[in-house]
Amino acid sequence: MSFREVQETKARLNRSELAVPGSQSKFFEKALNSPADVIFLDLEDAVAPDQKAQARKNIIEALNDLDWSSKTVSVRINGLDTHWMYRDIVDVVEQAGQFIDLIMVPKVGTSSDVYALDMLITQIETARGFDNRIGLELIIETALGMQNLAEIAGASTRNESLHFGVADYAASTQARTTNIGGPNPNYVILTDPMENELRQEHWGDMWHYALSKMVVVARANGLRPIDGPFGDYSDAEGYKAAAYRASALGCEGKWAIHPSQIVLANEVMSPSEEEIAKARKIVAAMAKAEEEGMGAVSLNGKLIDYASIRQAEALINKLA
Ligand code: GLV
Ligand code: MG
Repeated sequence: MSFREVQETKARLNRSELAVPGSQSKFFEKALNSPADVIFLDLEDAVAPDQKAQARKNIIEALNDLDWSSKTVSVRINGLDTHWMYRDIVDVVEQAGQFIDLIMVPKVGTSSDVYALDMLITQIETARGFDNRIGLELIIETALGMQNLAEIAGASTRNESLHFGVADYAASTQARTTNIGGPNPNYVILTDPMENELRQEHWGDMWHYALSKMVVVARANGLRPIDGPFGDYSDAEGYKAAAYRASALGCEGKWAIHPSQIVLANEVMSPSEEEIAKARKIVAAMAKAEEEGMGAVSLNGKLIDYASIRQAEALINKLA
């Protein structure tokens, strides 16, 4: 390991993160009773401009009137480039800050965006004497945010997680798709002709680089990497495939933009009994190897060593 220790953020279960539009207060209680680990009440892109003020009021009322203590609750504010953002923070944090765990910040572009929000939230928390300290979940969904990822991730001790906002990221990079996540039939590798003269198309994952980069930067800064939305909520298999890809890279959770996606995310993002059993066997085999004075041994015909212990423990720790 490096001599520099990575400070891990506060641990939270974040397998599923349900998006609920702030303008649709009829969905709040249902969200509260859902199996989602985290709920974000949205003031941004699921709310029309003339509904922003009402949505803010709905959210403040719901945070005060309902008992959210069994959930991690977040509020997605509008972007720093809008004239709604200051009031999102001032009104919501002043009037309901003691009930909020996290503020979700869309379209973060620079570390100064995070600095400005940290400053504002700190002033309100101090003025109101709140006991809780609100954390930040930052959506990486612009080319600028991706470029400045490392500085953004290290910009505040409030930072808890980085989220990949695939829809806005596609818009910002001018990727040629109007889907929200998922595969793209134009992002393929065409093989050379095979023996039978036929060529095969292998679909690639056009989001791989961005998501992978975000995971690395999140982990290097002790933050949770979370995969964002998958728009086609009628395609459970497609959702699960995207979630498995994200979890294979190291993401701890995925958004649910529809209640039906919550159980899918919880399932995919929890390690299976089989994975845990295998991880435990590795730890046990390495303990035995160490007793016998060996650093690397074979388990079921495969080499394992001390790095295998760290891989296995990373999996087992997901249960904690
Ligand atoms: C989420 O906000 C996205 O743009 O995908
Ligand atoms: Mg977005």
